[in-house]
Amino acid sequence: MMALAAVCLAAAAQKPGQPSWLSEAVFYQIYPSSYQDSDGNGIGDIPGIASRLDYIKSLGVTAIWLNPVYVSGWTDGGYDIIDYYQVDPRFGTNTDLVELVKQAHARGIKVVMDLVAGHSSDQSEWFKQSSQAPDLRYSDYYIWPSFIPESGPDPSLLRKFVKTDAPRGPYYIKNFFDTQPALNFGFANPDPSHPWEQPVDGPGPTAMRRELKNIMRFWMDKGIDGFRVDMAASLVKNDVDKAETIKLWKEDFTKWFDEEYPEGVLIAEWFNPSQSLEAGFDIDFFCHDGQYNYSTLFFYGRRGRDGQEPTVPYFDQSGRGGLQTWYDLYKFQYDAAQGKGYVCMPSGNHDFNRLCTEGRTDPAQLKVAMTFFLTMPGVPFIYYGDEIGLKQNPAAPPTEGSGGRAGCRIPMLWDGSANAGFSTAPIDKIYIPQDPDPNRMTVEKAEEDPNSLLHYVRSLVRLRTQVKALGTDASWRLVSPLDQPYPMVYERKQGDERCYVVLNPTGRTAQILLPPDPGTPTLIGGSYRSCTYRHIRRGDAIVISPESAAILKF
Ligand code: NOJ
Repeated sequence: MMALAAVCLAAAAQKPGQPSWLSEAVFYQIYPSSYQDSDGNGIGDIPGIASRLDYIKSLGVTAIWLNPVYVSGWTDGGYDIIDYYQVDPRFGTNTDLVELVKQAHARGIKVVMDLVAGHSSDQSEWFKQSSQAPDLRYSDYYIWPSFIPESGPDPSLLRKFVKTDAPRGPYYIKNFFDTQPALNFGFANPDPSHPWEQPVDGPGPTAMRRELKNIMRFWMDKGIDGFRVDMAASLVKNDVDKAETIKLWKEDFTKWFDEEYPEGVLIAEWFNPSQSLEAGFDIDFFCHDGQYNYSTLFFYGRRGRDGQEPTVPYFDQSGRGGLQTWYDLYKFQYDAAQGKGYVCMPSGNHDFNRLCTEGRTDPAQLKVAMTFFLTMPGVPFIYYGDEIGLKQNPAAPPTEGSGGRAGCRIPMLWDGSANAGFSTAPIDKIYIPQDPDPNRMTVEKAEEDPNSLLHYVRSLVRLRTQVKALGTDASWRLVSPLDQPYPMVYERKQGDERCYVVLNPTGRTAQILLPPDPGTPTLIGGSYRSCTYRHIRRGDAIVISPESAAILKF
């Protein structure tokens, strides 16, 4: 008999005291520059998003995550913030944001903002002042080393010393791009011969912590529902095992936030739930980055674990992918998350290629993948446009610091009017070029086709809400053997309710023999031409048509 995947823990997934709405939440991520332009300048904005709330509601989603909308230098898609207390004029005003939140709340939709905790823009007043002299109000918000040490506990930090001719120079420490100086949350084990290394409770980091809480309070008190925290693991420097960063979140920020805003959510961009949930976050991502990622499921080319050569992903028609690498990484995180929070696999985001990309553009394929995303445990995140199969644009020119990421940040395609209803601006003013294909999928076309991906995604969201065994807190267990990856079969279970999800992304009929189960399930959803479940002499046989997904309930 082939090796069977281990039985998962039966413990409840929920973190004690988590926001009451989180178990039922389905998130929709919006890149604000690319969703809907309301003033005809070619760039999306907040009133534009507000005008699409009925559509968003129609998807069945219950929360929106907005990428940064703060005043920005726009050298990294809004992740270089100049003013944390102000909406960038390109998106509207603070009042527009409050209005969006009100209108979203009226429809039962929460709104979560991005919080870039680890760095600001080099154009911010804080940085400008800090770069001048060591004894001003914001001087210690940043880190000003006087030389580059030959070695250090975290060698990658030494590559983040940026040369500057500012009076505080010759160096500052950056977090990501050179235009994103790191905010000063201190160092683990400060080296006394490095005067720029303050302890986590030093004067600079203490002031910085106060400021970050002010920012959170400012927006929470305006009615928002929480934050997705950018690079949450990056705060304390030279913190190789992340012990000090975890402590900082756990004993200060997340503790304070949970007490102050028990219904607010904190989502980490940490890419290691075993650490971030320990730090008190409610959710962390498992997607494109860090060691724990799903690259072997979705990525064509380039990325591979530990520098491996490109492989064909699991969700590919060729059927040459595998599950083992992903399973090992995911299972570790899934087990570590029990009782602490959620591991979430988003359908995409603004940092990596879209689900609908070369090699996987067929709606049948996309339906199989969306079935996966919407029937796994943890809170689902749908990246805007993935519900209609918005296609990666590999030719998109780098835009505002996107580098190769512009192709997944393309403007939404709404209808058959100019610029697909995204904007009334001339085509050469559109934020990032849209798919020029006259047959491109739009929301309007998808609405008219009963077999569209859009209608399918809605049906999945509905099913997930109706059937608790498919929900966020239900347990998960891979029941198909890892050495026969197609079809993938997993069990979801909550109380007495139990489902099997069967996924066959390949272009061929797939079959699997499973250990005998006393129950006989019935098909309750999916996208299949046929799927049979039979008790035979040697066990239970499932046969499923090509490019198909099936949801069976016992
Ligand atoms: C992660 C964000 O998702 C990405 O878009 C950004 O460039 C980096 N963090 C730096 O803030």
